[in-house]
Amino acid sequence: MITAPLALENVTKAFKDGEQYINILEDISFTAEKGKFTAVIGPSGSGKSTFLSIAGALLTPDQGEVFVNSQSIASYKDKKLANVRLTSIGYIFQAANLVPYLKVNEQLKLVAQMKGDWDREAKQRLGQLLESVGLKARVNYYPHQLSGGEKQRVAIARAFMNNPDIILADEPTANLDQARSDEIVALMAKEVKEKDKAAVMVTHDESLLKYCDTVYRMEQGKLIKGR
Ligand SMILES: Nc1ncnc2c1ncn2[C@@H]1O[C@H](COP(=O)(O)OP(=O)(O)O)[C@@H](O)[C@H]1O
Ligand SMILES: [Mg+2]
Repeated sequence: MITAPLALENVTKAFKDGEQYINILEDISFTAEKGKFTAVIGPSGSGKSTFLSIAGALLTPDQGEVFVNSQSIASYKDKKLANVRLTSIGYIFQAANLVPYLKVNEQLKLVAQMKGDWDREAKQRLGQLLESVGLKARVNYYPHQLSGGEKQRVAIARAFMNNPDIILADEPTANLDQARSDEIVALMAKEVKEKDKAAVMVTHDESLLKYCDTVYRMEQGKLIKGR
C-alpha cells in the first residue's frame, strides 16, 4: 500500500537515437513524502527532466507505474490525466511561463478557474500566497513589469494556488543569479514545510541543496541517494 503523495515503481524510459534505443531511466523506484523537499542533481542529459516529467504525469514511462495519491495513473485517459495535473501537482519550470497579458493576481486566478474552484477560499489563498512570496505590492503588475526573480515568485505562488499535494520544479533557478536563486528556493522550502507538500526539485546548483531534506543523483539511468 502506497501512502506517499507521489511514488514511481520500476520506471524505465528509452528514447530512440537514430536506429537504436538509449535507456534513459532504468528501473527507477522513488517516493516523495509529505512535507519533504527532495533534490535531484546530475549531469546534463542524465534524464532528470525525463524523470520529473514522468513523475508529473506529463510523459508516460515505457515500463513501471506512477502513483499519485496512492492511485496508479497508468490507465488514466486524457481528461483524468489533465485533472490530476491541474489539481494534484504544481509545476515550476526554468522559465516562469506567465501569460503576458494577465496581471499577477490574474495569473493565479486563472488556474483556480481552470480547476473550477474560484471561490472565497481561493481568493483568500491567492492573497496569502502573494503575501508569502513577497508580491503583495505587485498584484496589478503585468509580467513585463516584473524582474526575473519576481516572475519566478509568481510561478511559485501559481504552483501552490490549487493547493496540490505535489510540487515539481525543474531547474527553477537556471535563469537567476545566486542571490535570487537562494531567495526562490528558500521560499519554495518554506511553502513546502508550511503547507506539508511533497516536493521534488531538479537542480544543477549544489549550493541550493541546503534547503532540501534529501538529495538524489541521477547517473546512468539510476537514481542514487546522496550527492
Ligand atoms: N523526447 C525525446 N526524444 C528523444 N530523446 C530525448 C527526448 N527527451 C529527452 N531525450 C534525451 O534523453 C536524455 C535525457 O534528457 P533529459 O531528461 O532532458 O536530461 P536532463 O534533464 O538531465 O538534462 C538526453 O540525451 C536527451 O537528448
Ligand atoms: Mg533537464
